[in-house]
Amino acid sequence: MYTNKGKTPVIGICVSKVKRDLHRIVAERLKRYPCDATLITFRIEKLNLERQKVQGTCFEKKEGKIEHYQGSFPIPKVLYMQSYADPDLFKKIEESVGCIIFNNFIFEKWQAWNLFASNKTLMSHLPDTKKICTEIELKTSLSLYQDVFLKPINPVKGHSSKGIVRVKLINEENIKVIYQKGHKIILDEFQSFNSFWSSIQSTLATNSYIVQQSIETIRWGEEKPTDIRMNMNKNNKGEWTVSSLFARIALNGSHVAAGRGTQYLPIEIKQFLSLHFLNDEIKTTAMINALTNLGHKICQTFDQSGYHMADLGIDLGIDKSEQLWIFEVNPLPFPFASPIRDDSWIKPLEYARYILEKMTNS
Ligand SMILES: Nc1ncnc2c1ncn2[C@@H]1O[C@H](COP(=O)(O)OP(=O)(O)OP(=O)(O)O)[C@@H](O)[C@H]1O
Ligand SMILES: [Mg+2]
Repeated sequence: MYTNKGKTPVIGICVSKVKRDLHRIVAERLKRYPCDATLITFRIEKLNLERQKVQGTCFEKKEGKIEHYQGSFPIPKVLYMQSYADPDLFKKIEESVGCIIFNNFIFEKWQAWNLFASNKTLMSHLPDTKKICTEIELKTSLSLYQDVFLKPINPVKGHSSKGIVRVKLINEENIKVIYQKGHKIILDEFQSFNSFWSSIQSTLATNSYIVQQSIETIRWGEEKPTDIRMNMNKNNKGEWTVSSLFARIALNGSHVAAGRGTQYLPIEIKQFLSLHFLNDEIKTTAMINALTNLGHKICQTFDQSGYHMADLGIDLGIDKSEQLWIFEVNPLPFPFASPIRDDSWIKPLEYARYILEKMTNS
């Protein structure tokens, strides 16, 4: 029975079939959260505005013990989006229920790139990117950079490195293609641009893709590419903070590929930078500050554009001349497990509680 009469904060989490992993970790978030709370998970189609109810699962944590059961519940006053849904619907829900929805902009790669490109500071950290409409964009980028990434725009396909293809032009004619399939990294070669285009044309016709200049990030060991992962969250004061910051070493020799058969090695940021800067502490600290500042600038851009975000996963790169690059920002980031420290497991719950307290006090 649902008995919580305002005794612990009640937080709604809108989950989806598509992002099953994010649904599965809800109980784990609550377990790690150091206070008692009630979480109600539901699918967007189970929210009934007329009856002001959601049908879903309630996870109640009382004195550290978690119980869960299914039922129909009043719509919580704060909702954390962990699902794709129509932004217009969010507005309608907020107005009708008098609730607050956060992470209300579940964007795709091309939307994010355009949002950042409208900001002068962020623009200087963006690799050159074009939406592929015809073979011209691909041909032009390839001859300009000789090394590019193709990325599916569609958010369902475009996560965990699914659909990401690295394309290299060798000797002005031959094309080398690298991508991950399941646990394996696949290498293909083509004798000409036309033969490559014929092989990829149908994929590009069914999914929208962008083509992006490839950045040569600092190398680890022999020749292993690297990137930087930073999770950022709003905290219990409503301020953006860094929840996790670490480097990833690509074990496949091409690029960091997450998801199934993860092919990277995570490494603590200080250790990574200290080795790169030969124990120069000043340079290491300056680089951590630069990464953090860039993260904050990205978060502020969402705030200034009127979006209510509080949980973002940011993929960055440091190139050989120590320039910072933004590869991707993820609106539905997955928290990292030990040994990586990641406060994004619990930060969304802390932020939800902050919103509830603010609502009660106003
Ligand atoms: N332009 C680029 N230059 C160099 N490396 C890149 C570039 N774009 C992406 N990468 C590398 O490939 C990784 C995956 O790319 P991206 O994050 O855009 O795709 P994704 O499918 O969302 O992947 P994931 O879900 O694993 O984060 C990046 O984290 C980065 O290491
Ligand atoms: Mg990514």
